[in-house]
Amino acid sequence: MKSRIAIPILGLVLLFSAWETCIAQERDYLLYKDPNKPINVRIRDLMSRMTLAEKIGQMTQLDRKVLTADIMKDYGIGSVLSGGGSVPKSQATAREWVDMVNEFQKGALSSRLGIPMIYGIDAVHGHNNVYKATIFPHNVGLGATRDPDLVKRIGAATALEVRATGIPYVFAPCIAVCRDPRWGRCYESYSEDPQIVKQMTEIIPGLQGDIPPHKAGIPYVGGNDKVVACAKHFVGDGGTTKGINENNTVADWHTLLSIHMPGYYHSIIKGVSTIMVSYSSLNGVKMHANHDLVTNFLKGTLKFRGFVISDWQGIDRITSPPHANYTHSVLTGVQAGIDMIMVPLNHTEFIDTLTSLVNNNFIPMTRIDDAVRRILRVKFTMGLFENPLADYRLVNQLGSQAHRDLAREAVRKSLVLLKNGANADDPVLPLPKKASRILVAGSHANNLGYQCGGWTITWQGVEGNNVTLGTTILDAITASVDPSTEVVYSESPTTEFLESNNFSYSIVVVGELPYAETAGDSMNLTISEAGIETMSNVCGKTKCVVVLISGRPLVVQPHLSNIDALVAAWLPGTEGQGVADMLFGDYDFRGKLPRTWFKTVDQLPMNVGDKDYDPLYPFGFGLTTSKVQDQIASR
Ligand code: BGC
Ligand code: BGC
Repeated sequence: MKSRIAIPILGLVLLFSAWETCIAQERDYLLYKDPNKPINVRIRDLMSRMTLAEKIGQMTQLDRKVLTADIMKDYGIGSVLSGGGSVPKSQATAREWVDMVNEFQKGALSSRLGIPMIYGIDAVHGHNNVYKATIFPHNVGLGATRDPDLVKRIGAATALEVRATGIPYVFAPCIAVCRDPRWGRCYESYSEDPQIVKQMTEIIPGLQGDIPPHKAGIPYVGGNDKVVACAKHFVGDGGTTKGINENNTVADWHTLLSIHMPGYYHSIIKGVSTIMVSYSSLNGVKMHANHDLVTNFLKGTLKFRGFVISDWQGIDRITSPPHANYTHSVLTGVQAGIDMIMVPLNHTEFIDTLTSLVNNNFIPMTRIDDAVRRILRVKFTMGLFENPLADYRLVNQLGSQAHRDLAREAVRKSLVLLKNGANADDPVLPLPKKASRILVAGSHANNLGYQCGGWTITWQGVEGNNVTLGTTILDAITASVDPSTEVVYSESPTTEFLESNNFSYSIVVVGELPYAETAGDSMNLTISEAGIETMSNVCGKTKCVVVLISGRPLVVQPHLSNIDALVAAWLPGTEGQGVADMLFGDYDFRGKLPRTWFKTVDQLPMNVGDKDYDPLYPFGFGLTTSKVQDQIASR
């Protein structure tokens, strides 16, 4: 009798507890954390759980220097960046970088929903803020190579070096089409020719991985050895009047589409995950306020599905002076269609302002949701929820020999030979490795910082040799010549010094001092004064080869008659050996000008295809050498 009642009761109890477990599991089961669910399902689930504050947190990007793990947690900050030179400590190791990034990430993960943050950095010619990283030639030099496959391999190497430091996101490539070399960012542009810029978007599959064919046009990141890329600066940054940085680009629709836009649609097809808005204006409208181009054209017509990020204090600069009316800036910038705001210093001001704009119905919830959906799509796509914390597995990739070899190859291919002796029958290059005594001179011969240019270790670049690891051009020359050749180095030799020495030939390395952005705007485009003096002291006294280290064409015409050979080496980076490889004929010159070389600055702007085109060296110019070793042997 007892057992007859007990069995059904036991059954009921079991049933009840099973039901309870089920409910509890359902309650704890977070669909958005399930990697087996489709991304759209995960996004929808996560967004249904988020408060306005959590959504605005996702839209906020802050520089590491103003951040703590507690701020990450308390505000659910969506993204952290290192601005130029913003490093955990000087000469930090890859491990120290990983530890720092993880520290911020742990803060983000301990927020209510545990949404991982995404860490971004400018890796615009290799992982340039980081000590010991391989520094590749700046984009202008890569444009001279005409080698998209090389650029793709550089992207893949950069991705590994960036991941080595625990970082999954780079603010690169800059796909500006620089139409005026007076612009201080011209070296960040591959070319004045939109076709070349378009080809060089091959760096994107290098950085992010090859997009599977059926995914063309959708943000894509192929796992933990790849990084999220960012095409910048949308759009027309390279077209400003007189090349003045952050200024106004005047362009009709046809010019915009044929010159400044092709890089963007090719980037989108290749799966670029993010796009950065330009500080500049287009026909008087600040791009950070340009709803028509950011929302209607980029997101609408071009169907860009990744997220749009502002530039550093880019919304502040909507007003003049910057930050004059922050409420207006936030309203206009977010309404234009910017999804993530590189605030990047004052988070409470941004968050409070945006919150009150939404609460007072100036910005609709649909706009916030569009922004958050895009940010989360990139985070899910790249696998950030599955692998939010970095490890030390790639630390040896930073500055690896394989990457240095690749950079050296890039340097070789980027050099453009502009003059080689008085005529083709009497070439000066290649130089013989065996000579009794040679002179190496000039401000840039023995200066690793100078040969790397801006955006190296710090924002504006550095000087000297104790800045990172690499090979100066002087060291490279010394390593290349025959052991019996005496190499004499003098940064600025006097004419007396020249006369009292019997040099077989001299190599003079001069150019521009490092700069970035507005500080690099120049109306006269001259070689630095010390360089001009050295050229005039040396050239004419001995046979002289001038190697020009610059981010753009400079005034050279007045010096040309004195110079026996002239090589444009752009901003080659840490692997100076690539320069020596070319001077001594281990490889033939093949680089082609990615820009028009003007005679005088009053010709500017002057671009290939212009009527009245009258350059010193036209776009595409570049002397070649061939069978170089034979030539040397026959002397
Ligand atoms: C530059 C961007 C860069 C950002 C972050 C800005 O000043 O215009 O190109 O990505 O700073 O360093
Ligand atoms: C930062 C750069 C940034 C610039 C913008 C600098 O302080 O280091 O990354 O591009 O400010 O003005």
